[in-house]
Amino acid sequence: MLICQKHLFSIPDHVSYLNCSYMSPLSKSVEQAGVTGLLRKAKPWEITIPDFFEPVQNLKQLFARLINVQDAQRIAIVPSVSYGIASVAKNLKMGKGQNIVLVDEIFPSNFYSWQRLVAESEGELRIVKRPNLVSKRGMVWNESLLEAIDNQTVAVALPHAHWTDGTIFDLKSVRAKCNEVGAALIIDGTQSVGALPFDVAEIQPDALVCAGYKWLMGAYGLGLAYYSERFDNGIPIEENWIVRAASENFENLTNYQPNYKPSANRYCMGENSQFIAVPMLSAALEQLLEWGVANIQAYVEQLSEPYLEEMADFGFTIEEKSWRSNHLVGVRLPEKINLTELKKATVESGVFVSYRGGAMRISPHLYNDHLDFQRLLAAIKSVIK
Ligand SMILES: Cc1ncc(COP(=O)(O)O)c(C=O)c1O
Repeated sequence: MLICQKHLFSIPDHVSYLNCSYMSPLSKSVEQAGVTGLLRKAKPWEITIPDFFEPVQNLKQLFARLINVQDAQRIAIVPSVSYGIASVAKNLKMGKGQNIVLVDEIFPSNFYSWQRLVAESEGELRIVKRPNLVSKRGMVWNESLLEAIDNQTVAVALPHAHWTDGTIFDLKSVRAKCNEVGAALIIDGTQSVGALPFDVAEIQPDALVCAGYKWLMGAYGLGLAYYSERFDNGIPIEENWIVRAASENFENLTNYQPNYKPSANRYCMGENSQFIAVPMLSAALEQLLEWGVANIQAYVEQLSEPYLEEMADFGFTIEEKSWRSNHLVGVRLPEKINLTELKKATVESGVFVSYRGGAMRISPHLYNDHLDFQRLLAAIKSVIK
């Protein structure tokens, strides 16, 4: 079992940061990689042509390892989830009366592209509502999700862990249902990959898109995506020079190339060399691989467990353990607790959490320890009437 890794971060003792699902802090090694990257631009004569390509390849390989993909050319560098999802939506054919299946309160970057596609195709956006239940909510939600997929479904777009409360979607069962009807499975892994194990070989998504600044622990503005063979001949949402064949030959770039580099390279953003953010994200992924994602999940599980039980005793509604993640847990407040007062009490005690979709979202990581949860509990107790 891993021990607390706070010493690798610059988090002051008075801060209890239980908010990685908002944005991760940077580890000192990621911070250093960023500073080194920043200073390189001061001396552009030292930046060579291979520097545009090799660090990106390294980053792709690290991410491929993290999600168990053999061919790193299936990984694309994206600036945001919205961008990665737009590439998917552009390359799915949808006819009148067909549908896209989403779950309730999905993050907007995994919603608007589908809304547009459906509007343009006279199709249907099928949103599977979150059941209004106290017990077995996650289970019933997953059942209705499977029921919503039919032979008119073009794609199912989902998170692994829901961003507001950590509800887990059973992606293997969804994949099986998608296979039955020929639908694509598109995953926004932003709130799970890096903290909750995800294996592409096992789940076989058609695409997986992740922002890099939360559980992948990199800088803001650079994310990663995986695209399966389904998208190999697709059209990217922009045409940039660096993803075309032979782009390493800077002297010959106006010998315009008809072909893209292989596999998912065509979906990489322009200026993907990102001399600051690429080494930062690589340093972060190296650290995640060293820790092991399953170990991160196990650490936050055993750390948070007793405190979540205590919160349940106070009347908070918490998803059953088998249907939620441990790194991101949304707890719904009992009536005896006033939201505004709780927000004030947490801030005053140096406790950082988020409030999303009516729930308090607690998202711990390896830099958290018992003191952080004790402070949270003390803040809660101070506002119970
Ligand atoms: C589930 C999820 N997806 C994506 C994002 C970020 O999207 P984008 O990279 O398009 O800004 C967030 C940010 O909170 C998120 O929670």
